Amino acid sequence: MEFRRKDLLGVADLEPEEIQLILDTAASFKEISTRPIKKVPTLRGKTVVTMFYEPSTRTRMSFEIAAKRLSADTLNLTVSASSAVKGETLADTAHNLEAMAPDVLVIRHYASGAPHYLARRLKCGVVNAGDGLHEHPTQALLDLLTVWLEKRKNDKEPVRETLTGLKVAIVGDIAHSRVARSDIQAFTKMGSQVTVAGPATMLPPYLETLGAKVTTSLVEAVRDADVIMMLRLQLERMGQMFMSTIREYSQFFGLAPRHLNLAKDDVIIMHPGPLNRGVEISPEVADGPHSLILEQVANGVAVRMAVLYFLIGGEKG
Ligand code: NCD
Repeated sequence: MEFRRKDLLGVADLEPEEIQLILDTAASFKEISTRPIKKVPTLRGKTVVTMFYEPSTRTRMSFEIAAKRLSADTLNLTVSASSAVKGETLADTAHNLEAMAPDVLVIRHYASGAPHYLARRLKCGVVNAGDGLHEHPTQALLDLLTVWLEKRKNDKEPVRETLTGLKVAIVGDIAHSRVARSDIQAFTKMGSQVTVAGPATMLPPYLETLGAKVTTSLVEAVRDADVIMMLRLQLERMGQMFMSTIREYSQFFGLAPRHLNLAKDDVIIMHPGPLNRGVEISPEVADGPHSLILEQVANGVAVRMAVLYFLIGGEKG
């Protein structure tokens, strides 16, 4: 299996074999971050540009650290201090950046489809770091990596074998979550059974066509779950009509220690961050022994190293 793509835009287009290849590579890259000198020369002389039109802590840092660990140069466009605020279009900004000859452009944008739009116009690789309500493929890949590494029986077991049959609950504001959309597709492609739960107003009608079971009951979703993924309310993307109060939401959809008794004994708790403690997840659960939330962040660096490696260096060499 080879990875021959110019861009990484979504989980929707990825084959299970490509996912396996990225995760195998990511798993082997994890070790680099434990060395005293956390750097290999693999992408020396290559340039990665990040362009974030929405706030980000983890994703942007993670791409930047990943690029640096592989010795690529990184450049960050701070959108609030860029010519975007002077009326330059996205395509013009991107063409101007491309004139500086980057190898990959990592973009997060509030408009669904913005990375796809650029990928069609630019010669360099484009990575979608989250587009509107649509996809966040590297988040889904790091989520798969986290579950795989935690649940596999030995280090030869392929991703699909580990993930097949696992019950994965994704709970919260599904409608506004690109993480949910990428995760549902990623986990179902690798054989897991995904149940999504949230208030009816936050459950769009197409979820079943993506392969998920749908419920408005948190209890039903977490019963016998192997993995529980909690999501933040994307308040910045919703109007007034999606829920009554945050307190009521938290009462019905906040994950508390009592819910863990319903799940499998070795359930793992995940969250893409940022957390709203006390809203969708109680501090006891977020910081408790089942939580892999910080492991997700560590795995994020390894997954992004693998993605940059394949898009820039990788098989094309
Ligand atoms: C998410 C995002 O921006 O899509 N965060 C992330 O990248 N880890 C989720 C969120 O904002 O709630």
